[in-house]
Amino acid sequence: MATSNPTPDPCLLVIFGASGDLTSRKLIPAMYEMAKAGTLAKETRIVGVSRSPKTDEQWRTELEPWVKQHAKGFDPSIWASFAQRIHYFAGDAVKPDCYPALRDRLDSMAVQYGTRGNLLFFLSVAEALYEPIVEQIDEAGLVTEGKRWCSVDQSSRSWQRIIVEKPFGHDAVSAASLNRALGRVFEEESIYRIDHYLGKEVVQSLLVFRFANTIFEPLWNWQYVDHVQITAAETVGVGQRVAFYDQTGAIRDMIQSHLFQILAFVAMEPPNVMAPDAVRAEKIKIVEAISIPKAEDLALVGALGQYAGDGKEPAYHETPGATPGTTTETYAAMKVTFDNWRWAGTPFYIRSGKKLKSKLTEVVIQFKPPAADLFRSIDSVKREGRRPPNRMVIGIAPRGIFSLRFECKVPGSGLRIDSIEMDVDYEEQFKVEAVEAYGPLIVDAMRGDQTLFKHRVEVEGAWNAVMPFLDERSAGIRKGIAGNYAPGSWGPASADALLARDGRAWHNG
Ligand code: BG6
Repeated sequence: MATSNPTPDPCLLVIFGASGDLTSRKLIPAMYEMAKAGTLAKETRIVGVSRSPKTDEQWRTELEPWVKQHAKGFDPSIWASFAQRIHYFAGDAVKPDCYPALRDRLDSMAVQYGTRGNLLFFLSVAEALYEPIVEQIDEAGLVTEGKRWCSVDQSSRSWQRIIVEKPFGHDAVSAASLNRALGRVFEEESIYRIDHYLGKEVVQSLLVFRFANTIFEPLWNWQYVDHVQITAAETVGVGQRVAFYDQTGAIRDMIQSHLFQILAFVAMEPPNVMAPDAVRAEKIKIVEAISIPKAEDLALVGALGQYAGDGKEPAYHETPGATPGTTTETYAAMKVTFDNWRWAGTPFYIRSGKKLKSKLTEVVIQFKPPAADLFRSIDSVKREGRRPPNRMVIGIAPRGIFSLRFECKVPGSGLRIDSIEMDVDYEEQFKVEAVEAYGPLIVDAMRGDQTLFKHRVEVEGAWNAVMPFLDERSAGIRKGIAGNYAPGSWGPASADALLARDGRAWHNG
């Protein structure tokens, strides 16, 4: 969602971690989709960097089945021409001796293809490698922007930008240190902290929904909203990623990153204008307004879980590769409250977990009931109790849906009331299939548009807000979580209790 849509600049997209799963499963299929849609500058080329020796042609052959499987609408002729834009460089990116040859290769490609010395680095590697790679990029003199004229194109200033994957750091301290390390080499406006949830159409549409309409925003506050729920439920377990996951857990993997991005779009104030700095400034403000729970309240505002075994697959804590006695959470739920005018007293309940009943990503806005119950005397209300209040569901996965529930008179004599849902299916409405979320985000970085990327201060604020759930203060709510929810359920009983204490319940799809 670049806030303007110029053709992206030509560049070399240099992917560190070319052999990784993210590159094959997401990045290359995403770039194929962008090329197919004609969104990339024609000069743009991709260079994958990884240790194993292979030729351009070998890498292209390896990638083809991934693109077939993961990109929308595989077309052999489009692939054939796109594949020619994919190149490979074998080298160990943390070692200085990798760089003279890499630099020569990038320089000669820049001249050959006319990419004007523009470089977009993508760090698709383990977080521990971010700092050493950025240091080497700097040492090799690859970052010339604002420092000296580009070596390959003296006629214009080139740019060099870097996209960094999540998790950005593993706690507040490491995120701040990583920010400092990146900041020594790149200006903040050249650092693109990516979160693929911001590439999802419906997530971006939240801002349009709220700020391009008159009718929702006046209700979007503590006076009318009872509470908000944000869910990202998955049916899959940790699979082959146990080594990564055991160091990470649901809070770092999903909540501090993806769910906080949705949270920010739902809760933030309107920016003065839909422009990168204005949007990012509001996101920073809302993250900084999150109240940080006291250690003694954690059990009242948080619930953690780990899936049990199901006869076919082991329980998380028994998965080969997990640390013995691991207390890493595969499920987390939190009650988030804000110390600000708009949301004081209106909680946001957020949750995410693996091996849950269904794949479901959604936002639920639960409105307050009408001030007075004028229908209390009718039979059905006497019998069944008060009618449910209005509810808006914004579905992100498996389908993009806007759904509004309201009350209606049932046709016929006498007065009977029932709830009806007004639904809009986003993809059906616009007759488009959603593309891989990484594509539009990477193109935004090629345009120099940071609207959908996280600012340094926002990331640090998000870490501060979750730290009590991650450090030693969380020992109490971590104790005994092994196997506390069954695969295929909606998570541990403690998560249901979190809402039940407030007289509320989760919306399970
Ligand atoms: C990734 C997490 O960032 O997001 C994964 O590391 C998770 O653990 C994935 O499965 C979920 O993304 P999506 O787009 O399928 O909801």
